[in-house]
Amino acid sequence: MTQPYIIVLGNEKGGTGKSTLAMHIIVSFLKSGSSVASLDLDARQGTLSRYLANREKTRKDYDLLIPTHVSILASDNPDRKAAEQEDSEHFSDALTQFQDFDYVVIDTPGNNTPLSRVAHACADTLITPLNDSFIDLDLLVRVETGAMDALHPSVYSASVWDYKKEKASRSGLPMDWIVLRNRLSPLYSKNKEEMFRILKSLSKRIGFRLLDGFCERVIFRELFINGTTLLDLLDIETALTLSHVAARKELRDLMAALEIPVQRRALEEKEAKVA
Ligand SMILES: Nc1ncnc2c1ncn2[C@@H]1O[C@H](COP(=O)(O)OP(=O)(O)O)[C@@H](O)[C@H]1O
Ligand SMILES: [Mg+2]
Repeated sequence: MTQPYIIVLGNEKGGTGKSTLAMHIIVSFLKSGSSVASLDLDARQGTLSRYLANREKTRKDYDLLIPTHVSILASDNPDRKAAEQEDSEHFSDALTQFQDFDYVVIDTPGNNTPLSRVAHACADTLITPLNDSFIDLDLLVRVETGAMDALHPSVYSASVWDYKKEKASRSGLPMDWIVLRNRLSPLYSKNKEEMFRILKSLSKRIGFRLLDGFCERVIFRELFINGTTLLDLLDIETALTLSHVAARKELRDLMAALEIPVQRRALEEKEAKVA
């Protein structure tokens, strides 16, 4: 039996757009007819869960698709080993529950937690959004003044290397690691160009694919309140502005560039039943 394809949003950093991207990826898959389960491992913050709760409210008035959603709160067992064991079991239970879905989209917290680690080690595609700042670059490589050519992989990059090995030895499958330049300024800047140059040169060395995500746009903050995405605007009778159209194009381009295999088991089973 085919397993669900697992997409993890992760980067040990807050505010880079993980939860917003998770929501857009979920709705893109749902709209393409696939079945989607989502998992919020950042339950303390609960952004994805609250985003979906807002969507439930909007659904009372409009016909919106929603995923099957589970949120896992990290164990508060004072014994560290026991807590990790509990987290790991809760995570496995959720995946077992999601076995028949096409896709599982997992949102992780902006720090290194046991739940985040088990999720990373299961990713078929790991998406790491970064903002165009040297603080964010520090997540991938240790940046020291005047030593841009002697960059060393950071703790996070080294961890992803270990997750890749762990996944390969467990399932024999590779992990596609994507670093996404997100919340980009639409304007040209020297900093932006420099960041692109550095990331491009790192991508081969550290082993990730470099893609562009969304530009910085006010619309993303507004969408959260209604639990909607760029793909729902017409369904909630919102007239599209030029900025909406440009943002929707960014999303379409991103979904294509992610190169996630098409999984439409649920739909095909339904069609087979009807036939
Ligand atoms: N492309 C974007 N343009 C403008 N604001 C954004 C964009 N993506 C996310 N945001 C906003 O930035 C904040 C952090 O986004 P979020 O998805 O919660 O990041 P993370 O999950 O990485 O902490 C939120 O207020 C969100 O609405
Ligand atoms: Mg988040």
